[in-house]
Amino acid sequence: MSLTSAPGPGWLLFSFGMGLVSGSKCPHTCLCQTPEVICTGKQLAAYPPDIPLNTRRLYLDNNRITYLPAMNLGLLSDLVYLDCQNNLIREVMDYTFVGVFKLIYLDLSSNNLTLISPYSFSVLSNLVQLNISNNPHLSSLHKYTFANTSSLRYLDLRNTGLQILDHAAFHHLITLKTLYLSGNPWNCNCSLLDFSIYLIVSHLDQPGEGLTGS
Ligand SMILES: *[C@@H]1O[C@H](CO)[C@@H](O)[C@H](O)[C@H]1NC(C)=O
Ligand SMILES: *[C@@H]1O[C@H](CO)[C@@H](O)[C@H](O)[C@H]1NC(C)=O
Ligand SMILES: *[C@@H]1O[C@H](CO)[C@@H](O)[C@H](O)[C@H]1NC(C)=O
Ligand SMILES: *[C@@H]1O[C@H](CO)[C@@H](O)[C@H](O)[C@H]1NC(C)=O
Repeated sequence: MSLTSAPGPGWLLFSFGMGLVSGSKCPHTCLCQTPEVICTGKQLAAYPPDIPLNTRRLYLDNNRITYLPAMNLGLLSDLVYLDCQNNLIREVMDYTFVGVFKLIYLDLSSNNLTLISPYSFSVLSNLVQLNISNNPHLSSLHKYTFANTSSLRYLDLRNTGLQILDHAAFHHLITLKTLYLSGNPWNCNCSLLDFSIYLIVSHLDQPGEGLTGS
């Protein structure tokens, strides 16, 4: 984690303290059924306040949320399932998910991501499924992006703006089973060759047209 953006332990204690004061309410437009909070399709323009701290599954899909506030999200330390599909999220930062280290399922598909900061997923060592498909302005992924997501089994990268992928980004994904790659404007130059070779030797499932589907 880079020094410029990593929050210190004091920051976490501070935000946890704030959460205790807010108690276990429910965002007024959402449905709370412990341990689940469902805010699907409520025209939310921002991450809702008052999400119960013991929430394990959070549905924020089909809203107009533009960013995920790390401070609030970080209060949900038991969160395992986060669905942010079909919103207007523009970027995820190194600290966005630091507090939700138990996440198993993360759906960021159909947003407007232009940036996934290199250490965004660095604490998500339990993550099994990650969906970042349908983010047409996402043009690159750093080679450290998946360095610590060592439990990942399903990774959906369809329909992004990705032209190139560094094969080193996949070194640590030893449990990866299915990789979705179609619908990207791949630039099939020498830089992509190493990644192509990785795909051949890895025996991954590649539904759709894989690298050729641009
Ligand atoms: C990822 O999300 C898209 C829709 O946003 C969906 O069509 C697709 O099935 C999802 N991928 C996986 C692997 O679940
Ligand atoms: C999505 O992001 C692009 C690039 O930053 C921007 O031009 C566009 O207006 C955004 N779209 C929406 C719906 O916010
Ligand atoms: C992976 O996790 C370790 C230990 O938590 C951390 O020190 C390191 O910076 C992380 N690396 C990346 C690339 O995220
Ligand atoms: C291949 O294409 C990518 C993306 O367009 C570019 O960044 C990279 O420099 C190119 N590599 C070579 C060897 O031309």
